[in-house]
Amino acid sequence: MIIGSGRAPGKVILFGEHAVVYGRPALAVPVTQVQAEAVVEPGERGAGLTIVAADLGETISVRDAPADHPLAAAARLTLVKFGLDNPDWRVTVRSTIPIASGMGSGAAVSAAIVRALAEARGQETGVRGQETGVRGQETGGRDSPASSDQFPRPRSGRSSFQPADVSALVYEVERLHHGTPSGIDNTVVVYGQPVYFVRGQPPQTFHIGRPFMLAIADSGIASPTKIAVGDVRRAWEQQPARFERLFDGVAAVVEAARSAIAAGQPERLGPLMDENHALLQEIGVSSPELDALVAAARGAGALGAKLSGGGRGGNMIALVTEATAAPAADALRRAGATKVIVSTVRDSPT
Ligand code: MEV
Repeated sequence: MIIGSGRAPGKVILFGEHAVVYGRPALAVPVTQVQAEAVVEPGERGAGLTIVAADLGETISVRDAPADHPLAAAARLTLVKFGLDNPDWRVTVRSTIPIASGMGSGAAVSAAIVRALAEARGQETGVRGQETGVRGQETGGRDSPASSDQFPRPRSGRSSFQPADVSALVYEVERLHHGTPSGIDNTVVVYGQPVYFVRGQPPQTFHIGRPFMLAIADSGIASPTKIAVGDVRRAWEQQPARFERLFDGVAAVVEAARSAIAAGQPERLGPLMDENHALLQEIGVSSPELDALVAAARGAGALGAKLSGGGRGGNMIALVTEATAAPAADALRRAGATKVIVSTVRDSPT
């Protein structure tokens, strides 16, 4: 008997990765073709909370797992949040989001676990543990100046468990395996909407004036975000002025991209992607494999391309159209991509 379930999509960063860790803005969108899902069922009496990572063939006892085990950490933080004392539940987790590829797999799995446990807690206690207002109706921003693009703030007197709470719990887990995450990954996978993100500020959604298509290609090289983020930090410490200039360059690209998207002129994103990729190369997070995928997509008619996420491996994105999507996807596979997803970016993902 299922007593709780939760889901979260994958994500791609359109513009601004790495610079976002240093206070610059970034744009990210959910990718609903890939998802993480968790379901909670009653478990063996006395076993406490166990997590079955179905894709990895791993069963984790939350009581015995190390403090930094990401799945156990997501569960523990949720139990503490709800004042639950290690219930005899089994949480089964599945995900189609590639691991360590810059598509937010860790954040989405954590979000699915948090949501599933929250729903199970609601079933057991009759207290509503589910979020209200996910997908932007009442999405829990913090105090800040009003903005039409901002996720609306919750009305008082409703459920106390909001997407902002889920996002905050997932951020805590992200800190265990990313070191200094900006918070963009947990925000976009929890809210499930396009996000304009500046570290430390309430997340804003942004308007997509005209839908556009991306080819998202996986280099097949697993690349933990923590390593790339740590390397960038060391390089920034050695050459702060140079890196601040590079991050400022990324910020200018992000603002130009946001205007182009809002104006319904997505074709303007192509050269901006190329510029962002060149800046990421200088920041030191591209790789020969990613550069080859970027070149292949451009050669097959994509209007622009860049790595997406932590870099070194993982995914890249290319701006394509109905006409160029198939040739670009073929060229990406020939250039070594292990998986290609074509996704349409629009205001409300379907
Ligand atoms: C990872 O998806 C994005 C990075 O900018 C890291 C972060 O923002 O925490 C590389």
